[in-house]
Amino acid sequence: MKKILLMMLIAFAPLFAQVSESIEVPYIAYEIKMGKGFEEVNANCLMCHSFGYMTNQGPQSRQFWKEKVDKMRNSFKAPISEKDSKTIVDYFSKHYGNGK
Ligand code: HEC
Repeated sequence: MKKILLMMLIAFAPLFAQVSESIEVPYIAYEIKMGKGFEEVNANCLMCHSFGYMTNQGPQSRQFWKEKVDKMRNSFKAPISEKDSKTIVDYFSKHYGNGK
């Protein structure tokens, strides 16, 4: 009898373990450098993910940033114009570049 009571206690315990307040997914605001091209980045790169995806790459070459923007457009179908892409690559190689 004790065993059954214990098992019932274990089985139903989760029912009473609910939290009363609602759970919120944290919003992480990543810092991003201001400068020429920021507007294009802001308008074109945040539809699918946060700035963290870009800034967490660390300093990278112009080639790297160009490949990333191309990947976003070609593989992920980001609707970014040719003109904006160039401005965005300039922006990243200036502010998040490694001089290469
Ligand atoms: C159409 C949606 C979309 C847009 C718009 C978009 N991305 Fe992405 N991005 C993705 C997806 C999907 C991933 C991959 C996510 C994963 O692998 O978890 C990604 C990942 C990344 C990464 C991480 C490295 C990698 O290769 O996966 C970088 C850097 C990045 N994006 C940069 C950019 C930049 C810069 C822009 C603006 C020019 C941009 N993204 C716009 C969809 C998008």
